[in-house]
Amino acid sequence: MATRKRATAAATEPGTPTRPRQGAVLVLHGPNLNLLGIREPEVYGRTTLDDIDRQLMAMGQELGLKVDTFQSNSEGEIVDRIQAARDKSDILLINPGAYTHTSVAIRDAILGVGIPAIELHLSNVYKREPFRHHSTIADVAIGRIMGFGAESYYLALRAARTFLDAAPKGSN
Ligand code: DQA
Repeated sequence: MATRKRATAAATEPGTPTRPRQGAVLVLHGPNLNLLGIREPEVYGRTTLDDIDRQLMAMGQELGLKVDTFQSNSEGEIVDRIQAARDKSDILLINPGAYTHTSVAIRDAILGVGIPAIELHLSNVYKREPFRHHSTIADVAIGRIMGFGAESYYLALRAARTFLDAAPKGSN
């Protein structure tokens, strides 16, 4: 009886994997990234978010990954989407946009669901204003990729493949 109770508790603990890995990748784009292509092109380039998502889907097929993408300008919606990914996504690629520098809620959501996350940015935030140098999720991410424009996303997807291949099955 006691053993059964323990097993039930473990299966419902945040971060406890309950299904084998299937190569499911959730890509999260934070605020203003819907404006890519027209937003400060000298900083972020001319590739649109649709172009990036299409390229990620195509690369996902080549790499044997199932890619889902989500963009929101709202912190709460991003938190909700991360929570909904629990037990569904194997890894998160997240460009939190400006929330990178402020959001404890997104950090807590990543920790809460226990899904490994790669943080990425189009620009090299360290070459920019000091307020962009701090990230609330840097120390809970597997790693960070930045400064390569749209290519940062594609590098992150390749890193996700490598990470999932290397990590023991069923672990987070
Ligand atoms: C960004 C960098 C952030 O500082 C900024 O607020 C963004 C985009 C990037 O991809 O370079 O919105 O995350």
